[in-house]
Amino acid sequence: MPRNNTIETSGATPRAKSTMKGVQSPASVMGRDLPNRSVVAPMSRVSATEDGHATAQMQRYYGDFARGGFSIVITEGTYTDGDASQGYDRQPGIATESQLEAWRPVAQEIREAGAVAIMQLMHAGALSQRGLKGQRTIAPSRVQPLGAMMPEYGGDGLYRPPTAMTLGDIQYVRDGFVRAAQRANMAGFDGVEIHAANGYLLDQFNTTYTNRRSDQYGGGPENRIRLTSEIVAAIRSGVPSEFIVGVRVSEAKVNDFEYRWPGGTDEAATIFTALASAGASYIHLAGEGRGFRDALAAGTEPYTALARRLTGLPVIANGGLGDPELANESIRGGYADLVAIGRAALTNPDWPRRIEQDAPILPFKPEMLSPSATIENSARWLES
Ligand SMILES: Cc1cc2nc3c(=O)[nH]c(=O)nc-3n(C[C@H](O)[C@H](O)[C@H](O)COP(=O)(O)O)c2cc1C
Repeated sequence: MPRNNTIETSGATPRAKSTMKGVQSPASVMGRDLPNRSVVAPMSRVSATEDGHATAQMQRYYGDFARGGFSIVITEGTYTDGDASQGYDRQPGIATESQLEAWRPVAQEIREAGAVAIMQLMHAGALSQRGLKGQRTIAPSRVQPLGAMMPEYGGDGLYRPPTAMTLGDIQYVRDGFVRAAQRANMAGFDGVEIHAANGYLLDQFNTTYTNRRSDQYGGGPENRIRLTSEIVAAIRSGVPSEFIVGVRVSEAKVNDFEYRWPGGTDEAATIFTALASAGASYIHLAGEGRGFRDALAAGTEPYTALARRLTGLPVIANGGLGDPELANESIRGGYADLVAIGRAALTNPDWPRRIEQDAPILPFKPEMLSPSATIENSARWLES
């Protein structure tokens, strides 16, 4: 569905001279002075222990991105509570004190290598791949998810119809995010990113066809984004002011690439301003690599630029920006403050250094994530 978006790109914010270098230029955002604008996108690696503890292998893996020159490292989606938040087997959690302790050396390694460490907090909702293994799945409404589970994350067959959440469930989930953020702070992270993108629980609230509620969490976009905003505000009020509380949103989902916010620019504006009012430190738009090029081709304002203009917050663009020319274009054009690199970072953990040295960027190969998306399988493939 095309965007209902009519703003001219010629009105995009003019760039300051210091950003003419694009992704290599320094940035002062969220109280941090960053040497460049490269961020590692959150990527699930199903490489934790069976009971959700981060490992020494994960410590090295995340440290490599920081040593490779990334300014910010965002971890994989990490589950928040012991009820229904877990999405995959061998996903790390931050739901217990011992999981907190396991993350401590990871945060330390990222920070000692000079990068900002952010933990992504994730509740899988109806898209948990564990639905057939005894864990209940919950969602705003009882709507069976589209598509099939993902074998590379241990899923098999169709998703089950989830249990519709009560107001008590909503409060439990919100409290889970708040406690998880406090644990991330205690583990030494600089901040958290609330995963409200890609079809997982908070995005299920934000999506018309998975949210059929008639209470304050369903209906118009301002109601559908309410739970995410409440989580941001509740976290914000319980952590030090310098602790980063970012949010990731997207239109497309892992099980529905075609979904677009039905209200177009108006809906995007409602979402961005609600998150900013709740106290978000940044907005991260997944899929906006393609989004910004599509918008430019259509002569409209990309959502990343809209988010910057409306909120004044730092905005991270993500999706297909592994080509340094595109990454540079998104910064130089004023469409984003930072770019998050996913697959290209898997093949090039030193992506920022390679740009600095004009070294080639190795192409991503889907085989790296096969038969499962573990760090070990990627490492084996990289060595071959
Ligand atoms: C192996 C893998 C795991 C991913 N896991 C997550 C995740 O845990 N949380 C998330 O928000 N996005 C996740 N994503 C999506 C990426 O953050 C990113 O949006 C996507 O790869 C597109 O960016 P790219 O074109 O730079 O790869 C994952 C992507 C990959 C390839």
